[in-house]
Amino acid sequence: METLLSNPAQAGAAFMRGGISAVFPGRAPLASLSVPEAAALAPMPYHDPVFSERMLRLHLDTTTDEASRRPELVAAHLDLLAPFLLSSARLEVLHPACGPGLIAEAMVRAGWEVKRYVGVDIGPATVRHARDHAPPGFDYRHGDARDLEQLVPERDFGLAMLTYETLNLFAHADLRELLARVGDMLVDGGIFVAECRGPLAGTIDQRRVHRYPKGSLFADGPHVILDEWATIGSPPTVVVRRMTVLGSSRERPEVYHSVIWSYSIGELSGMFEEAGFDIVDVLAVPEAASDVPDAVGNVFVVGRRRNRPA
Ligand SMILES: C[S@@+](CC[C@H](N)C(=O)[O-])C[C@H]1O[C@@H](n2cnc3c(N)ncnc32)[C@H](O)[C@@H]1O
Repeated sequence: METLLSNPAQAGAAFMRGGISAVFPGRAPLASLSVPEAAALAPMPYHDPVFSERMLRLHLDTTTDEASRRPELVAAHLDLLAPFLLSSARLEVLHPACGPGLIAEAMVRAGWEVKRYVGVDIGPATVRHARDHAPPGFDYRHGDARDLEQLVPERDFGLAMLTYETLNLFAHADLRELLARVGDMLVDGGIFVAECRGPLAGTIDQRRVHRYPKGSLFADGPHVILDEWATIGSPPTVVVRRMTVLGSSRERPEVYHSVIWSYSIGELSGMFEEAGFDIVDVLAVPEAASDVPDAVGNVFVVGRRRNRPA
C-alpha cells in the first residue's frame, strides 16, 4: 500500500488492472453509489481560492474548452442565439454561474447593446478577473447561484442565461428553485436560455490514468490522476467523476468529485413550465460534444416568461 502510493506510476497500472480498490483497499467502486450518496458528495471546490486561481488559468487558456469555451465557439453560439434574442429580449441580462466574464465580453464584441448585466459566480478569482475587465454597466456578484435572491435583489431582467452546462451542476431540487428565482426576476416575455448536456444514451463505468508533468486544475507540479466515471441510478440520472490525485506535494491523496445531473428535454420542459416559462425553442449547440462518453449532443433550451396574471 505505502509502496503503491509512493509510486504513482505503479498505482496507475494497478488502478487500470483492478480498479480503485486495487490501490485503496476498501474504497467502494464508484458505480456502487446510490443517487442520494452521489447527491451528498462535496461538489468541485469552485469556491476555494487556490482552486479558483487554477480554474481561472484554465478559463483564460484559449487552446482548450475545459473551463470556458474558445472565443470562436462562444461567438458562434451568440450568433446562433442573436436573431432570436435581439428581436425579443430586452438586453438586461442575468447570468448565474457566469465564469470570468468571457461571455459578457463576447456579447460586447458581437455588438450586443447590453443595457445592464449582472453575473454571479462562486469562484473568487473568477469574479475578481471579471470585475477587473468589466465593460461599463456590467456588474459581478460573488456567491452561490443558489442564493440568487440575496445576491441579486434587482428585478426586471429581459434575458437570463445559464451557459456551458452549468444547468447540469444543479440537482433537481436546487434546479427547480433556481429556475423559479429566475422566473421571478424576468419581465413578462423575458427570455431564458439554458444550455443542457444531452441525455445519457447508456451507462458508463470507466477509468483512465492521466499524467501531468507540469500541474493541472487539481494540483501544481507533477502528479498523476486516477480518473473514474460512472453513471448512477436506473435509468441513469447522474454522472459522477472521481479524481484521485497522487504524487502532488500534499501528504495524502486528494479526492475530487464532479457531479453532473442529467435531464431529459421532457423533464426540463416540465421544470421550465413550473417556473413560469413556455419553451419556445430547442436548438442544437454547435460543436459542443460533451466530454461525457455516451452523452448525446447538447442543446440550448429557450423559454419565454409567461405573462403574469393582470
Ligand atoms: C464550466 S464554467 C462555465 C462558465 C460560463 N458559464 C461559460 O459559459 O463559460 C462553470 C462556472 O460555474 C461556476 N459555478 C459552479 N457552481 C456554482 C454555483 N453553485 N454558483 C455560482 N457559480 C457556480 C464556476 O465557478 C465556473 O465559473
